[in-house]
Amino acid sequence: MSELEELNKEIRSCRQCRLAKDRRYAVPGEGPDQATIMFIGEAPGYHEDQQGRPFVGAAGQFLETLLSDIGLKRRDVFICNVIKCRPPENRAPLPDELALCRPFLDRQIALIQPQVIITLGRYSMEIVFKGVSITKIHGVARKIDGVTYIPMFHPAAALHQPRYRSLIEEDFAKIPAILANIAELDAPPPPPAPEPPQQLSLFN
Ligand code: URA
Repeated sequence: MSELEELNKEIRSCRQCRLAKDRRYAVPGEGPDQATIMFIGEAPGYHEDQQGRPFVGAAGQFLETLLSDIGLKRRDVFICNVIKCRPPENRAPLPDELALCRPFLDRQIALIQPQVIITLGRYSMEIVFKGVSITKIHGVARKIDGVTYIPMFHPAAALHQPRYRSLIEEDFAKIPAILANIAELDAPPPPPAPEPPQQLSLFN
């Protein structure tokens, strides 16, 4: 069993906070062990809780559309949440729930080592950008300790308020260029140009 699978098992059996009581399944997240891109949402909703998988409801369908618009499939990326269990009635996560669940997310990031982390919504944005308004910084990539973070609106926001739809689509459209830029920075430097052949003189 990989370290990530062991961690998933630990998350599935976690009973550290009140959310364990009413959940059907904890939702660790899913995607390749070595994913380049990690999406972090807020918390599982009804469908995620029923299936034990992240982003499988309406917001998830929109996320898949946004991914396919930029040539990605959900199996190409790691998708998880700050909170691994569904809060009752989809209420906002409470500070103690966020604090207790946070080490799981930190361990996922440490194991997967994504190059790009895209935070979806306010709660996941706060893991790196505290006390700022998402309306001011959405879509702006920032590199911190070698990882590029891009805060974005939550896809569910677009389902509830259509004016967010184009903002999210515009922010997603920036992802390919950001990935290309990272690939370029990571590429080994080109080999030095060969010395021009020396014209041998007849006299030496
Ligand atoms: N919203 C989230 O933030 N996460 C999910 O997994 C589903 C909906």
